[in-house]
Amino acid sequence: MTQQSPITVLVVGSGGREHTLAWACKKSPLVQRVIAAPGNPGMASDGCECEKVAADNIEEIVQLAVETCVDLVIVGPEVPLSLGLVDALAAEGILAYGPKADGALFEASKSHTKSFLLKYGIPTGAADSFESAEAAKEYLDTASYPIVIKADGLAAGKGVIIAEDHEKAIQTVEDMLVGLKFGDSSKTILIEECLQGEETSIHVIVSGSDYLILPTSQDHKAIFEGDKGPNTGGMGAYSPADLIDDALMQRIENEIVKPSIDGLVAEGVDYRGTLYIGLMMTSSGPKVIEFNVRFGDPETQVLIPRLKTDPVEVMLATARGELGSINVEVEDAYAMTVVLASNGYPESYPKGETITLPENLAEGQLLFHAGTKQVENGSIVTNGGRVMGVTGLGANLEEAAKKAYDLCDQVGFESKYLRRDIGAKELNRHKAAT
Ligand code: AMP
Ligand code: GLY
Repeated sequence: MTQQSPITVLVVGSGGREHTLAWACKKSPLVQRVIAAPGNPGMASDGCECEKVAADNIEEIVQLAVETCVDLVIVGPEVPLSLGLVDALAAEGILAYGPKADGALFEASKSHTKSFLLKYGIPTGAADSFESAEAAKEYLDTASYPIVIKADGLAAGKGVIIAEDHEKAIQTVEDMLVGLKFGDSSKTILIEECLQGEETSIHVIVSGSDYLILPTSQDHKAIFEGDKGPNTGGMGAYSPADLIDDALMQRIENEIVKPSIDGLVAEGVDYRGTLYIGLMMTSSGPKVIEFNVRFGDPETQVLIPRLKTDPVEVMLATARGELGSINVEVEDAYAMTVVLASNGYPESYPKGETITLPENLAEGQLLFHAGTKQVENGSIVTNGGRVMGVTGLGANLEEAAKKAYDLCDQVGFESKYLRRDIGAKELNRHKAAT
């Protein structure tokens, strides 16, 4: 490390991912002060200074960073990244973890990413993009089903529809291109081949031409048990995910990660942050479903607690373009996060319900706030669809699950909803193997 005195970090965002990143900063010997914008009550109770500045108010975030002499800004969500927060910080000489707008475009435009993947020969589903409903409908007349229809721009994880038949596909095209269901984000759509297989993702920390692959993790996107119902931001995760063994990881690195990083360099994108690669394990190998330009939520809640190496050291080195000198060591532990949501999410749900929390957490239990708010009488109330992430750590996945679910049962609010089957597929595989 070249920096000697402890630094001030600003964490941008207010979800479970940002609470986890802020928690790691508070634990780091490299850090003396953690500011969060806007943060959440969990971050405040961990000793972060929460400032009432919205994550996507670029001007005010930059002003806050300048006024508080921040040494490193860690940007959690994709929206401020795509609005150019890191470019604006760089103009003030402030280091940031997260890509500039040219890198963030790989999440903000699915057609941009698709062209990139095709240009660099990276395996992905065949797709075409459309701005005209007439042309899209004509294409659908001769397509095979199911087929995937995606809003090109950011849509908070809701802009992808798997159309089972022609009728549903036509309706989706109408909703997106004519009804502008996702506003400007669905002015362009992508119609993509439906890939079959098990879905997984990897997190790659990228700094220019250097990269480092984080441990594997597995998200659970559907709202209901058995992976049924509409997609959410994520209802739970675990790490490591044994679906990706060493041989498969090597293949993913050779066929997907390396060409992606080389492609970014060739395009002149100096990417410094997390590249989250969503993958489908098809019968003909791993294929890219999407790029995200930030840590996953709730994957962060299982990945960060497993790192033996200080995450702040890694993020600082990434922001400085010095990642090549860093190795990441990982705890020999399993982690599971279960999301406590408000019943009704991802559609409409109640807010303002009082949350009861346990006085103490046992060893190997962590509680990360997401949609919570502190009200005048000091109570913490629900304030979002995903309310909290409960993480358990253990020597194996069974133990991690027990720690997580025990803690889930100790948190109370009226509309509490959770999936009881996080990691179930992997736990069954473990059982079958013994
Ligand atoms: P995305 O926002 O691109 O990650 O898509 C959201 C979800 O839709 C993914 O996590 C997959 O479950 C599903 N999905 C996206 N693209 C495809 C595809 N080509 N084939 C099958 N499922 C897909
Ligand atoms: N958990 C999925 C995501 O963060 O996009």
